Amino acid sequence: MCGIVGYVGNKNATQVLINALKKLEYRGYDSAGIAVLEGEDILVRKCKGALKFLEEKIANETIKSSMGIGHTRWATHGEPSDENSHPHTNMDGTISIVHNGIIENYAALKADLQNQGVVFKSQTDTEVIVHLIDKEYKQDKDIFQAVIRTLHKLEGSYALGVLCKDYPDRIICARKESPLVVGLGKGENFIASDVPALLEHTRDVYYLDEKEIAVLYIDHVSLFDFEGNKIVKQPSHVEWDMDAAEKGGYPHFMIKEINEQPKACKDTMRPRIIKDGNGKATDVYFEENSIDVSWKKTKRVVITACGTAYHAGIVAKYAFEKLARIKVDVDVASEFRYRDPILDKDDIFIVISQSGETVDTLSALRLAKKEGLKVIAITNCVGSTVSREADDVIYTLAGPEIAVASTKAYTTQVLCLLLLAIKAGKLRGTLSEEDVSKLLSELEEIPGKIEEILKEQEVIQKFASMQFNKEKVFFIGRQFDSATALESALKLKEVSYMHSEAFAAGELKHGPIALIDDKALVVAIASEPKLYEKIGSNMVEVKSRGATVLVITPDNSGAFDGKTDEIFKIPECSSTLVSLLTIIPAQLFAYYCAIQRGFDPDKPRNLAKSVTVE
Ligand code: F6R
Repeated sequence: MCGIVGYVGNKNATQVLINALKKLEYRGYDSAGIAVLEGEDILVRKCKGALKFLEEKIANETIKSSMGIGHTRWATHGEPSDENSHPHTNMDGTISIVHNGIIENYAALKADLQNQGVVFKSQTDTEVIVHLIDKEYKQDKDIFQAVIRTLHKLEGSYALGVLCKDYPDRIICARKESPLVVGLGKGENFIASDVPALLEHTRDVYYLDEKEIAVLYIDHVSLFDFEGNKIVKQPSHVEWDMDAAEKGGYPHFMIKEINEQPKACKDTMRPRIIKDGNGKATDVYFEENSIDVSWKKTKRVVITACGTAYHAGIVAKYAFEKLARIKVDVDVASEFRYRDPILDKDDIFIVISQSGETVDTLSALRLAKKEGLKVIAITNCVGSTVSREADDVIYTLAGPEIAVASTKAYTTQVLCLLLLAIKAGKLRGTLSEEDVSKLLSELEEIPGKIEEILKEQEVIQKFASMQFNKEKVFFIGRQFDSATALESALKLKEVSYMHSEAFAAGELKHGPIALIDDKALVVAIASEPKLYEKIGSNMVEVKSRGATVLVITPDNSGAFDGKTDEIFKIPECSSTLVSLLTIIPAQLFAYYCAIQRGFDPDKPRNLAKSVTVE
């Protein structure tokens, strides 16, 4: 996700930038850097690790500068390292940039620039931007026009800050799909990815909208569209206090991250969907996945993970078996590692871990590698131990997840696994080109559908306000929905401490139904029309024994009328992809129950974000 900042004024730019970056460390913390104009030159200082390492690095330097740009990184392309840290500069060090976002067409742009003799210093997608600006700038020495021409070549998302030695009075910034706020001071102006970085200096801001450019001078800020036409907009006044600002105005990181899921899914999916000249989605692309060939001959996929990531693995089991007709075994990593598992060298082994540091998952990975298996990791953390030890890595591009309860990491894990299952189906010939195209087009609609659900969050909030005192909550579902049931029950118990369990709906009558009485809430996840009748009967069974029943479903036909107390409607979606939708109301329900019960959902008792001990 990354954080960028910029400053033009009379103060010590280094200090202003470092202080501002401190307020953005929640956006990324694997490396940091600044570029300031010192005298006539651009001076860059950057290094791997948290901001404090950068501070230590420059502690004994006297840097005289009153303008510059800065960056705190959450790696997406290229591991955390000094070279991959921002700012990035052109070859002669006269232009420097910071970037938050993902340049989707960077590989083609990079190849083109390399053919023209450009030498790259990093593995980042960002570096292409500065070399493109440099190339354009050489044409007419007009930095503003050079930036504009460059923007038109970029595909993807970006918030950019650009510093050019020949233009020592200004910083140029631009935004497309990544946030950027301009802070308006007196005799000084600022940019930042988010408001907390500005509050120490000003509360008057321009929120840059899509495809807007701002040029910051010491005494004024000019705004333009991407064609270079001047635009006029009214500044906003920020009322939030610092705590609210850090959470983007949300009261907790958990609800912020739930609401970030449309963007997280878009970021994770978009670079991976290949389109033909007519914009038709045709294939899936995994930059770091070199094992296409194994998918054809493999007879089995083995998935291991813990907690929420394990539940993503269960969704994957249904997806791989349905789309690619491969047998899948999913295991809890702590069980897998101790049971002398039977593995075959042709098995494809997948580990899933948000943090990439979970000790049990890591041990499972090592065991599989020792047995000679190829390991694919799905992780959110570039440079994590899991990402370094696996043979192939598919990154979820969810940005840092701060709340202990995983939300956006889960949906992006499921998304990567669905993409992988589609790819496998294509390679194995179990999906036709038309099937692939249809599934991918439907996937592209998912972020919009999550947004539709999020617009209805008050309905869930109200339902939570009536149910938060229930003694026990049971989630039931069949097939893909049974995975959502497991994840929903985990979410609820984690943050609200309500006793919650999940069952495959068909299992109810084999035991769990003995627990049902009027103190129970049963949440049924019902997304598969051919199973509506079956799960409908389960609802009747529990309702007639006194339970309150909620169903989460895309049904429009009235299939559950009279069988439930509440219906929460989600948008229509094929059952193969629906797990990306059914979990959203359940996450919201967990969050609002925690709030109703007076608990801080960001810091559930007894839990840690990363479990690095057994
Ligand atoms: C639940 C949760 C945990 C993690 C589990 C694995 O909300 O976050 O269950 O999913 O500890 O963590 P990672 O994915 O980092 O390996």
